[in-house]
Amino acid sequence: MTSPARFSITTPLYYVNGLPHIGSAYTTMAADAIARFHRLQGEDVLLITGTDEHGQKIQRAAEEAGLEPQVHCDRIIGSFKDLWEKYNIQYDRFSRTTAANHAKIVEQFFGKVWDKGDIYLDQQQGWYCVACEEFKEEKDLIEDRYCAIHTNKKAEWRDEQNYFFRLSNYQAQLEALYASNPDFIQPASRRNEVLNFVKQGLKDFSISRINLDWGFPVPTDVDHTIYVWFDALLGYFTALLEDGDEVNLETAIAKFWPINVHLIGKDILRFHAVYWPAMLMSAELPLPGRIFGHGFLTKNGLKMGKSLGNIIDPFELVDRYGSDALRYYFLKEVELGKDGDFNEVRFINTVNADLANDLGNLLNRTLGMLKKYCKSEIPQLDLATIADDHPLKALGHHLGDRIVAHYEALNLSASCTAVLELIQACNKYIDDSAPWKLFKAGEQSQVEVILFSILESVRLAGYLLAPIIPNLSTEIYRQLGFSGDFNDLSNLAAAYPFASHSQWGLSWPERTLPKAKPIFARLELPQDIE
Ligand code: MSP
Repeated sequence: MTSPARFSITTPLYYVNGLPHIGSAYTTMAADAIARFHRLQGEDVLLITGTDEHGQKIQRAAEEAGLEPQVHCDRIIGSFKDLWEKYNIQYDRFSRTTAANHAKIVEQFFGKVWDKGDIYLDQQQGWYCVACEEFKEEKDLIEDRYCAIHTNKKAEWRDEQNYFFRLSNYQAQLEALYASNPDFIQPASRRNEVLNFVKQGLKDFSISRINLDWGFPVPTDVDHTIYVWFDALLGYFTALLEDGDEVNLETAIAKFWPINVHLIGKDILRFHAVYWPAMLMSAELPLPGRIFGHGFLTKNGLKMGKSLGNIIDPFELVDRYGSDALRYYFLKEVELGKDGDFNEVRFINTVNADLANDLGNLLNRTLGMLKKYCKSEIPQLDLATIADDHPLKALGHHLGDRIVAHYEALNLSASCTAVLELIQACNKYIDDSAPWKLFKAGEQSQVEVILFSILESVRLAGYLLAPIIPNLSTEIYRQLGFSGDFNDLSNLAAAYPFASHSQWGLSWPERTLPKAKPIFARLELPQDIE
């Protein structure tokens, strides 16, 4: 037997300056859904997430909290892990940049780049945004030298000796990479952004800081601390090490390298699409498959911010509404590559319309009819014998393949919409074919075709939506008499093989279905809605 295909995906390693926010939850939900889809296909999958814990930003946050930086970080990471559990995120690795093995990986990697002659000492002068942990061109700052991303943070002037990485050495190689691999940066708008930036000519960037202790010392000069981004990106390697592994890059890359997808937000594109591949080229290590930069979330059309007082608290949201509803909204309503908005009224209306009405009521209603007209027994008929132009078969026929293509393009939103079309077609089909009339007229075999083809469509919809709404999909499958759990990864591919379950026309075992119960309770608008 050939071994299953491998697939690895990362989220960014999140800063631990504060509790996780909805932006980090968004990236992680999307990465989780993508990882789940690959698991459903029987692949050997690794979902990496984690935290970025060094640098001035974290050091200052710890100082403000009156804590030693490590104590501060240890406290905050618990909240990330709690949040991922609440959002039903099934990550395989949680990589912390303060982990003991990470220090060795950074040291080894630095050594490779040093030996290559790509590091040198020079004077760094410029405006630094601590919140971005990045030097900014004056033209990229807004009035009074505030950061364009962190509009309440002023850039700080720096004039100090730093070690620099010779990014400029990799100009031609990077341009060749983008030209030969047009999908390396996605979506196309982000790719263009990077191409324009690179075209202007790449400047070397500083990879060390002085007057900062919270980080790793530069191996060749302990007066300097390694720049937090140089350290953090290497966390993707450290994440690959398993307990007991020898700690070195060779071991780290043995199985799951190169990473297939780095999923990130658009604000950290340059680090991932320019600096990171250049660093890997310097160290002579293989490059990742692609970098996908998603958009930003706004609330009620406005940029979120602590100073604006309109932050969405991801804990409060999930405690109130549960993970499936939120996963569905964010992954369907926000196209991954584009900016998107969270509006609580729209959220409630969307999930009530799609999940409670279109999907939930459809299943409930159909099971009710199955009980009345067929004693809750799955009709003994072969779905393959149904005519190809049957409205649901025609729609369901290649749906699984279309969903595979949508996931390949990381278009989760299109995948949800395509499944929803099948569900909506089922509702129309019931109304058009009126099985209650056919039953009265004694057309039992027609009734059976109608009900069974709907149940098969709901099953397929539940299966294909499982990466997005795993709890609800498990409930749909249970109502249809299947006992597996879409959250049970160890058994997923065996319980529900992709080849058969992703296609319309599964052969169902003989069975009487359990009593129907609603799968999704309508959400109510809270009293205090803005
Ligand atoms: N520590 C770096 C990443 C290092 S990766 C080796 C970092 N961390 S972060 O916590 O600030 O950001 C994490 C992610 O959250 C980024 O992908 C960023 O784009 C995303 N978001 C921050 N605010 C966001 C929104 N309002 N909307 C969507 N995502 C946003 O950067």
